[in-house]
Amino acid sequence: MKNRLFLNVIITLTLLINCQWSIVNGQYRPTAENLKARSEFQDKKLGIFLHWGVYAMMGQGEWVMNNRNINYEEYAKMPAGFYPAKFDAEAWVKAFKDAGVNYITFTSRHHDGFSMFNSKASEGYNIVEATPFKRDVIKELADACAKYGITLNFYYSHLDWHRLDYPLGNTGRQLGRPTDQQNWKSYYKFMNDQLTELLTQYGPIGAIWFDGVWDHASDAEPYDWQLEEQYALIHKLQPACLVGNNHHKNLNPGEDIQIFERDLPGQNSAGFSGDMQVSNEVPLESCQTMSDVWGYNITDMHFKSTKELVQMLVHAAGLNANLLMNIGPQPDGQLPAESLKRLKEIGEWTRQYGETIYGTRGGLVTPRDWGVTTQKGNKLYVHILKWQDRGLFLPLAGHKLSQAKLFRDGTPVKLVKAQTGYLLELPEVPTDIDTIVELIVD
Ligand code: GLC
Repeated sequence: MKNRLFLNVIITLTLLINCQWSIVNGQYRPTAENLKARSEFQDKKLGIFLHWGVYAMMGQGEWVMNNRNINYEEYAKMPAGFYPAKFDAEAWVKAFKDAGVNYITFTSRHHDGFSMFNSKASEGYNIVEATPFKRDVIKELADACAKYGITLNFYYSHLDWHRLDYPLGNTGRQLGRPTDQQNWKSYYKFMNDQLTELLTQYGPIGAIWFDGVWDHASDAEPYDWQLEEQYALIHKLQPACLVGNNHHKNLNPGEDIQIFERDLPGQNSAGFSGDMQVSNEVPLESCQTMSDVWGYNITDMHFKSTKELVQMLVHAAGLNANLLMNIGPQPDGQLPAESLKRLKEIGEWTRQYGETIYGTRGGLVTPRDWGVTTQKGNKLYVHILKWQDRGLFLPLAGHKLSQAKLFRDGTPVKLVKAQTGYLLELPEVPTDIDTIVELIVD
């Protein structure tokens, strides 16, 4: 009896400790599971972002509803014509797996407010109930991901151009929506109900990737999105699920990933990251388009070359960040041929050189004009992306380096010690997409 009582106490205590009391004294403390998931996330390095919704039918990207001022009731007629006959979750996931991709981030609900999953909370405005297709594509993706060992993450929009209870922000103002039904409380409940669905219907989820709080960035009073409570809900439902928010600002409490839109951490060529300081506390992720846009665009053939994409991945890894590379699937459910071609070529590269990227962290030499370094254990990988000479200097005076060789085929690379570091003497001027020198650091 006594023993049983003791056991019960122990079980209760364990439950309490494990109960992911992620907010202690008002402060977010990630649980052990969450910290482990962060590090695993960093090991994954390459993810695929998928922007797919009924907007694909219009072939003008995921913002078409706003950009063309489509009346919200007219837009809501689109799902009735959505039948992506060629959708094959397994074919998608297999193509990602072969490319060396370790996770996908799928738009569960974008700004247009249409849910691409079986969502009771959406009151019928979802792919299962509102389209003739009737299939829960997220369920099919979740099953394929589980089969191929790929992590599934969800993009989730904070703003909504469909629901009348969403308190209108900067966007979606010309869509004919009546403004007298705005109700933050009911909208917030709706979001949390959907997040609960997403985190209970599809097995373990790697991350929730929020987007859209900038819709209220120019409000006179700072808008209270009640993020902390929402994040706590996520961490309660799945403690290992990481929270990221594409708000273009510094981290908020409860966020486990820092996101950089269309730029590598520390850069701001796209103009979204001007207010951000690179965090050294959480994993970093840079999201980038393969062409110019996110959602399928029928006139956008401006695809980046495989070389550019691979170099982006390498750059990200050198900056200790992941690359989330976007594809906008077609309305028929297929991935564009241009994207498939690049995935295949990226796969050829990652099969040969992935070891120098996956599971690494940014290396001893911070990024330089010629490239970056990554590191795993005592191995240092020097990634030379653009260099005109046979000699390359590594400013590593305080370190002992040895056994320099080309990762490609083991050709020895001469290592000359100087007072201020080491000189690598390459067998030839580097011309590969990425010429990688492997070294041992003692
Ligand atoms: C921006 C766009 C959105 C896209 C996101 C991806 O926030 O508004 O459409 O999903 O970037 O990073």
